Amino acid sequence: MASAAADLAALLSRQIALMGPLSVADYMASCLGHPQFGYYITRDPLGRAGDFTTAPEISQMFGELIGLWAAQCWLQMGSPEKFALVEFGPGRGTLAADALRAVDKVPGFTAAKRLHLVETSPVLRARQAAALADAQPVWHDELSTVPAGPAIFIGNEFLDALPIQQLIRQDGTWFERCIDWDDKAEHFTWCRTAAAPALVDQLPAGGRDGDIAELAPAAAAIAASIADRAIAGPTAALFIDYGYARSTFGDSFQALQNHKPVDPLSAPGQADLTAHVDFAAVARAAGKAQVHGPIDQGAFLLRLGIQQRAARLMAQNPGQSKLIEKAQQRLIGATEMGMLFKALAITSPGLAVPAGFENV
Ligand SMILES: C[S@@+](CC[C@H](N)C(=O)[O-])C[C@H]1O[C@@H](n2cnc3c(N)ncnc32)[C@H](O)[C@@H]1O
Repeated sequence: MASAAADLAALLSRQIALMGPLSVADYMASCLGHPQFGYYITRDPLGRAGDFTTAPEISQMFGELIGLWAAQCWLQMGSPEKFALVEFGPGRGTLAADALRAVDKVPGFTAAKRLHLVETSPVLRARQAAALADAQPVWHDELSTVPAGPAIFIGNEFLDALPIQQLIRQDGTWFERCIDWDDKAEHFTWCRTAAAPALVDQLPAGGRDGDIAELAPAAAAIAASIADRAIAGPTAALFIDYGYARSTFGDSFQALQNHKPVDPLSAPGQADLTAHVDFAAVARAAGKAQVHGPIDQGAFLLRLGIQQRAARLMAQNPGQSKLIEKAQQRLIGATEMGMLFKALAITSPGLAVPAGFENV
């Protein structure tokens, strides 16, 4: 184990010795966000040299189309003179930079927007500050400090990074899946404890012995807060992530290191930990407001005009045509990101259906 991983493992194993096994949510929160050793706190994990690549890093078209999506929402809100453009987990700031460049010509949008970034990583905040200096962003540790008022929220590959809880069914009973420390073998191991009835009540009906179910309370809390804001005033939110459209059973807790899957318990704080997003659960949590989708990312980007944008870019940069075509395929191809990734929008009741979600 690398030394920072060993430090975090030592800290978590001491915590287990004192207080008992950790929930998956507590383990995930520490591995990703521990103030000293957390994965996102200590590094920029994106890109070829990192652990994973995201859509905005694949092509500028992604951020540009989302910028135009946001501009249309703003027009549908009646072009408020001042509004918050909020991005959750903005990574290197690439999506926001591409979006803002694309909408610069929409009269009034740039002057009306105040850019707010919800980001916990100091390393990535520095990247965002460099990429978005002209837009003078304001950073937040969490949604609660983002000012009230008209707002457009964007979150790409953000919800999958929020802690989940796991339950496992054995002999007809649901147990909470937990993480223990094996002193002899000196590594983390899976265990189970009695599950709180409140958790079991949230599970989909059915299930067989051996099934694993996942709950994402942090993602649900964000969706519910956005719905509250949507009831209070003009609001639109767009979440894009990998996940499934209907709540189901399955173990999607995974770790990536150097673009390869690794055991999530093997190197705490050194690998990206994620879980697939249960879009049906996000929709239920936002149920007070209007929910649109989910729709597959491929279909969504086609509806927003990715082919036209790609054709234009190719005409302007003929030498780059193959790369642009390849990037487009990665974003929309059914066996690439096009179907695994989905888009879901939350808007204020009474607002027009946002672009890309018509008749979904
Ligand atoms: C998978 S990266 C996605 C980055 C970017 N959206 C993109 O598509 O390239 C997850 C982002 O969420 C941030 N993040 C993770 N957990 C967070 C939390 N609890 N609160 C705020 N930001 C968080 C990370 O630091 C990072 O910027």
